[in-house]
Amino acid sequence: MAVDLSFREPQLGTDYWVEDNVLPNALEIAQRCIANSTWTLGSPWRPEPWPGMRAPHALTDDELSQIEHCVKKGLGVSSLKPQSPADMGISGHNHIQICGGSEGVARPHVDSASMCDYAAVLYLHPSPPTTHCGTSFYRLHLPGEEPGGNACPRTYESLSQVPGLPAQMDPTMFEEILEVPYVFNRLLAYKSDLIHSASSYFGWEHELASKRMAVVFFWKV
Ligand SMILES: [Fe+2]
Repeated sequence: MAVDLSFREPQLGTDYWVEDNVLPNALEIAQRCIANSTWTLGSPWRPEPWPGMRAPHALTDDELSQIEHCVKKGLGVSSLKPQSPADMGISGHNHIQICGGSEGVARPHVDSASMCDYAAVLYLHPSPPTTHCGTSFYRLHLPGEEPGGNACPRTYESLSQVPGLPAQMDPTMFEEILEVPYVFNRLLAYKSDLIHSASSYFGWEHELASKRMAVVFFWKV
């Protein structure tokens, strides 16, 4: 069965936006987030689609408005609607997410169209062991077939709803087409109908501060 995914080459300034040194107090925010004492666990400990652990209210209102100002400027829109508190339980707008190297792998996906048009990540680890742990964009590429699409029609909430795709995705079904490296205090915003994932995770199980750390955001326009 033909898979209903179109392909569009991700373009900087059209499909994704990168802003470095985005917050003046990023180190302070990283330290504040690490000191958080209450976490919700994701996979591999609980059956959640997201790996590692996370906590809400990563940024203050003022810090969040700086991020939103930057994203609105990049997108050329006058307002952004953050995920509602009801949605937050599912996807986690303004959550800090921490995930170690043994706790997750790249899992290409799209974000729910009913909850967001745009997503963003703010990388907060000041000294990542590699830059190959940011965000990657993918296209479908099934074994023995021509490379496929990378944009999920908005009528589907997830890739598993797309006719022709199985309920369980395997990372080997996808080909990486673009990698945005992990750089401390970098904000990456992107259209969330494009297939994407964290490129990889890092850090030791016993040391929270060693792990990949990012704040995640979801908006509708
Ligand atoms: Fe996502």
